Amino acid sequence: MAKPKTQFVCQNCGTVHSRWAGKCDGCGEWNTIVEEDPMGGIGGGPGRAPKKGRAVALTTLSGETEQAPRIHTGISELDRATGGGFVRGSAVLIGGDPGIGKSTLLMQAAAALSRRGHRIIYVSGEEAVAQVRLRAQRLDAANTEVLLAAETNVEDILATISEGKRPDLVIIDSIQTLWSDTADSAPGTVTQVRTGVQAMIRFAKQTGAAMVLVGHVTKEGQIAGPRVVEHMVDAVLYFEGDRGHHYRILRTVKNRFGPTDEIGVFEMSDKGLREVSNPSELFLGERNAKAPGAAVFAGMEGTRPVLVEVQALVAPTSLGTPRRAVVGWDSSRLSMILAVLEAHCGVKLGQHDVYLNVAGGYRISEPAADLAVASALVSSLAGLALPADCVYFGEISLSGAVRPVSQTAQRLKEAEKLGFAGAMLPAASAEVPKGTGGRWTEIDDLPDLVARIAG
Ligand code: TYD
Ligand code: MG
Repeated sequence: MAKPKTQFVCQNCGTVHSRWAGKCDGCGEWNTIVEEDPMGGIGGGPGRAPKKGRAVALTTLSGETEQAPRIHTGISELDRATGGGFVRGSAVLIGGDPGIGKSTLLMQAAAALSRRGHRIIYVSGEEAVAQVRLRAQRLDAANTEVLLAAETNVEDILATISEGKRPDLVIIDSIQTLWSDTADSAPGTVTQVRTGVQAMIRFAKQTGAAMVLVGHVTKEGQIAGPRVVEHMVDAVLYFEGDRGHHYRILRTVKNRFGPTDEIGVFEMSDKGLREVSNPSELFLGERNAKAPGAAVFAGMEGTRPVLVEVQALVAPTSLGTPRRAVVGWDSSRLSMILAVLEAHCGVKLGQHDVYLNVAGGYRISEPAADLAVASALVSSLAGLALPADCVYFGEISLSGAVRPVSQTAQRLKEAEKLGFAGAMLPAASAEVPKGTGGRWTEIDDLPDLVARIAG
């Protein structure tokens, strides 16, 4: 028999290499390639005879449809992020940095579901039963019927959850601790994680239970991260937040049964996570509106408007190369705005350090924040505070034009609701509400904005 061949798999992106290398060609990461056994996965060894195929009936696109059967947790921020609750027979991956609060969130979800009469099994591979119980006590979940197991072996877990009455939802915390007898690689490698996840997904599809898989994001790439199983599961949610801040965002990045870009917002407390139904109020909480360099951005997260403050500090530099530092936004986008300000508005920032910060540790991904960023920069440079009751949104192009963005009406409605009477928005914006009493100022281009702010 031929000597069993091994392969070299990048633990960051899963690219297979024929030999070991220091750097992965697939993702460019260093020191992420690990030797694995290719037959360790699903499908058995090389000696197996292939099974003869069986034809399945082809069908058309029209015909009967059905709504995915869902399990609602009653935690509305979580239900919103999952698109209306966990779907039976599907697998959801919840990723996030270690210590961000994934286990806490899922314990709370398990307790809420159990109180609604669902059978929930929580399999912890990271903590002993006593530790999980302690957490449950702190979260006020100890008096529920959630069933616990501390186990990491895939076959044992499957045997455990298949026994007795069928569970409605199974939580596996975390996929990195799973290991299977059928895979030879070390626990935590891509092969082991994939094998384990595949087995759990198969269980969900066969039994109709909802499967929730926890995955730690690994910066080092030494342990297989959630990225390598993203394509296998039905939905992927990331739990994010800044360690220095007390709120957390559950962000949908993939969902076969609902919309993506939805977010659920939570606030941390000693009794666990609390839902935040109006995130704008949280992000604008500690605002000092009289200071120059602060502009409120009216943003959108999926279907939900979020108001957040963008802060800029522009100061003469003492260095040869001025500093540019950004927190919560894209730094190349900042460079672009600075270049456009210089080229089209004569705002020279070559001798200035520029610092940009999004308040509250929030991260903005929308290009619609351009106008708010430009306003904050000009305001800081000019030393003039912006009107306290005004919001800003609009995308800036390289020509200096301000381009309309989507969902104008929702942004303005949220601003009005929170007491903002004015807005600077792109000219030719659709759906601008009329007759509401709001001062909606349409901005044609960046020179127009600079003239309005700096006079
Ligand atoms: P944990 O849920 O264990 O994080 P993860 O499973 O993502 O690694 O939470 C980390 C720590 O933070 C834990 O000691 C509990 C604490 N914590 C709170 O005290 N309150 C909260 O609301 C949350 C989310 C966590
Ligand atoms: Mg945990």
